Amino acid sequence: MANGCGLAEHPVGEAASPRRLAVLVSGRGSNLQAILDAIADGRLAAEIAGVFSDKRGCAALTRVPAPLRWSRDAKSFPDRAAFDLELGDAVAAVRPDWVVCAGYMRILGDGFVQRFAGRLVNIHPSLLPKHRGLHTHRRALEAGDAEHGASVHWVTPELDAGDVIAQTRIAIQPGDTPETLAARLLPAEHALLLETLRGLVDGRIPPPPA
Ligand code: GRF
Repeated sequence: MANGCGLAEHPVGEAASPRRLAVLVSGRGSNLQAILDAIADGRLAAEIAGVFSDKRGCAALTRVPAPLRWSRDAKSFPDRAAFDLELGDAVAAVRPDWVVCAGYMRILGDGFVQRFAGRLVNIHPSLLPKHRGLHTHRRALEAGDAEHGASVHWVTPELDAGDVIAQTRIAIQPGDTPETLAARLLPAEHALLLETLRGLVDGRIPPPPA
């Protein structure tokens, strides 16, 4: 039976052992909190192996105990590759089954993407391939779109261009602003991310094309 995100439903917890998630964040962390809540009440058979950020002191990091946090100021590195290498080493050290970009706002370079290819996903607040990049809510309104949404996709070196795994849609209403649209989309984003993670964790979602 299909649910709102188009994925077949299966009982939680079919996976042998909790799948280890490394979560990349840069800001508020509401998607991370949705994951934490789903794990806590048994809706997601996974565990947080670590939370990683390019923004020291971002609110998302405070949602997990200190031993699970890793952050470095990306600006203190000579270049993207140097930062990504250190981030990649830290992520690999926690042996994640899945690496989840949940509000991670920094572009990941080829090195990192290749290193975690096939287990690296991102949630993006638009109906990809529409509105890649930033300011998606404003751009959907400016484009006169009738509907908006969010996408979970495999991460590739090209920004927001990896194959879409699942999407959720909302109608754009008269009088919508980027703020009202973002606020109405956020709970749908959380549900989409959880449903997709469930599909990854219990093997219903096949790996991306090689
Ligand atoms: C979300 O809208 C996500 O789609 C986008 O950044 C926002 C992050 O929100 N990439 P939060 O930090 O998870 O609350």
